[in-house]
Amino acid sequence: RRATRIQHLAQWKTEGHKWAMLTAYDYSTARIFDEAEIPVLLVGDSAANVVYGYDTTIPVSLDELIPLARAVVRGAPHAMVVADLPFGTYEVGPQQALESSIRMFKESGAHAIKIEGGERIAPQISALTQAGIPVMAHVGFTPQSVNGLGGYRIQGRGDAADQLIADAIAVQEAGAFAVVMEMVPADVAGQITRKLTIPTVGIGAGNETDAQVLVWQDAAGYTHGKTAKFVKRYASIGDDLRTAARQYAADVASASFPGPEHSY
Ligand code: KIV
Ligand code: NA
Repeated sequence: RRATRIQHLAQWKTEGHKWAMLTAYDYSTARIFDEAEIPVLLVGDSAANVVYGYDTTIPVSLDELIPLARAVVRGAPHAMVVADLPFGTYEVGPQQALESSIRMFKESGAHAIKIEGGERIAPQISALTQAGIPVMAHVGFTPQSVNGLGGYRIQGRGDAADQLIADAIAVQEAGAFAVVMEMVPADVAGQITRKLTIPTVGIGAGNETDAQVLVWQDAAGYTHGKTAKFVKRYASIGDDLRTAARQYAADVASASFPGPEHSY
């Protein structure tokens, strides 16, 4: 099996081959997804929520994300590993974005970075691209801007479609190799996908994008509480693990574990 790199994603767009991306935050999960031939893994700043337990992605730091990205790279010899830059590590300008990305690249071995924003971060995208750092952009609903956007709301509806389209074009022109579109109307996402030459990766963006991404814990039933409408449940890992933990504790209480087969 060959390793996935940015030129394959470009090729898949021209071939009309749709691909899947999943988040990953640790070695063991990365290994499983790599074995499942998921071509692109995202060390998302959603780690803020699912790994670190913060309410939003805003507090998570580069120091918290880098070790996770390093572990995912070790677990995924074939997948292309994309790492998010957290809030506060690139907004100041191209210089700051370069410094943060260089740290992420050197310390984790990730193959690309992802930053949120459209037109407003085009200068950062072009500086990174020129430095040889591939950039995946992220437009539509951008969780790091949840306060500015007034909550978890669909973006690019009605008149706002023009700005979303302008953002998608701006990131492509700045040199992004792909763009995530989060929580946008399916028809607008389809229109943008046909207009752009770079692949689009949807999450809550309908089925006309070139690729899809999900937070794996949401897709596998490993998160607490209600998940968004755009999530499809493929497993019940949380229920399985809870049952396993209870059974283990019960076996210990009844002295049925360890049995002779587990003893020396
Ligand atoms: O952090 C993340 O998991 C993401 C995806 C949902 C696109 O940015
Ligand atoms: Na993210």
